[in-house]
Amino acid sequence: MADLPSNRDSFGSKFGVIAATAGSAIGLGNIWRFPYVAGENGGAAFIIMYLGFIVAIGIPVMLSEFTIGRSAQKNAFGSFRKLAPRRPWYLIGLMGVVAAFMILAFYTAVAGWTLEYIYQSVINGFASKSPEQLSGMYDSFIGGTWRPLLWFFVFMGLTAAIIMAGVQKGIEKYTKILMPVLLILLLALVIRSVTLPGAEKGIAFLFQPDFSKITPSTVLEALGQAFFSLSIGMGTLITYSSYIQKNDNLGTTAFSVAFADTFIAIMAGLAIFPAVFAFGIEPGSGEGLVYITLPNIFQQMPGGYFFSLMFFVLLGVAALTSTISVLEVIVAFFVEELNLKRKAATWLATSSVSVLGIMCVLSSSSMSDFTIFGFTVFGLMDFASANILLPLGGLFIVLFVAWFLGRDKVKIELSNNGSLKAGYIPLFMFIIKFIAPLAIAFIFLQGVGLINF
Ligand code: PHE
Repeated sequence: MADLPSNRDSFGSKFGVIAATAGSAIGLGNIWRFPYVAGENGGAAFIIMYLGFIVAIGIPVMLSEFTIGRSAQKNAFGSFRKLAPRRPWYLIGLMGVVAAFMILAFYTAVAGWTLEYIYQSVINGFASKSPEQLSGMYDSFIGGTWRPLLWFFVFMGLTAAIIMAGVQKGIEKYTKILMPVLLILLLALVIRSVTLPGAEKGIAFLFQPDFSKITPSTVLEALGQAFFSLSIGMGTLITYSSYIQKNDNLGTTAFSVAFADTFIAIMAGLAIFPAVFAFGIEPGSGEGLVYITLPNIFQQMPGGYFFSLMFFVLLGVAALTSTISVLEVIVAFFVEELNLKRKAATWLATSSVSVLGIMCVLSSSSMSDFTIFGFTVFGLMDFASANILLPLGGLFIVLFVAWFLGRDKVKIELSNNGSLKAGYIPLFMFIIKFIAPLAIAFIFLQGVGLINF
């Protein structure tokens, strides 16, 4: 810890770094988005592409964020200001903080739903309900006012409580417990799912490559999923890596986190699709798959009461270790740039995000008619962050490291202590100078509809 500024908190162990960073990456994106998107976009063909993007683009972007964060040891905004004084690069950091507000608002709304579903699992609320009734139950829950709001605030409160406790005593302490729990729950669910009679069809749906389903838009879909899933493009990893000690290996961290994130996504697919097909259900879309189809499956399967409880606890845990990483982006910014105490910063961040969050929660009820550019507030936060701010942020992050910081700085962070073997630096530089920016520009142009395949 000697070489870190003494007033700054830091991660205390290698495992803590991995647990926290993997905790950020692994979230709702892996457990309901990945399985569905992969299944619908050619299964194995999509997965092969996705893996390629994780390795060729995701890891380089991740290493770029790590380079920035650890060399500057500041929040996302402050890092750019420190590394490029009097240059406008800090706007990237500012954009990241804005993205954090937006993501936290709608993500916590969805995360709150998992608490309702944990509650329903506990009281056995899905028992002997028809698919129509379960779908009605979901609609009337998200269409309500007080219950979704209550769960939103409970989830926000949990997130804030962990953040207030600090980096080592909050983030690190809880992710070190929660991530192994998540893994155990998921493995139990996978075993249950793949041993159901008829499970093979679900496995085939997920793993049988169907290259005819690959279109240019599928390719971009895979790239976009890689981006969102690894939590890259908005300074989450700049912030987290600013707490990583100088002797920690950034290369292994990036590879382990990318591996864990991908492994969990595939496991989630294996937990969901075999069960979906075993019960002869059509794989539905995103939200529906988790909140309507799965309760339907659970209430028909032996031991369903426990598996339902396990699944929604798992989803809540995965979401929580992601929401804390998003809140930390804002809190670190408030602490270092506004000179606030951590507690005050957390209160300020939580209450201001909540204003937006309330609008996201009410987007499926009283505010459903309130639209901006044709989006509800929820839809806008989702669209603008994922399709605009993340790709744009990621693009500028790699450009900053490749063209402004340059090879020598990269060498110091990534290779002097053996993190990335010096021989790989030219390859890494080539990727972040050309390949990654071009690929990300593609997602962005597609996302805002400037190019359309
Ligand atoms: N990676 C998280 C998930 O897959 C979401 C996230 C995006 C978290 C951006 C932090 C920053 O659910």
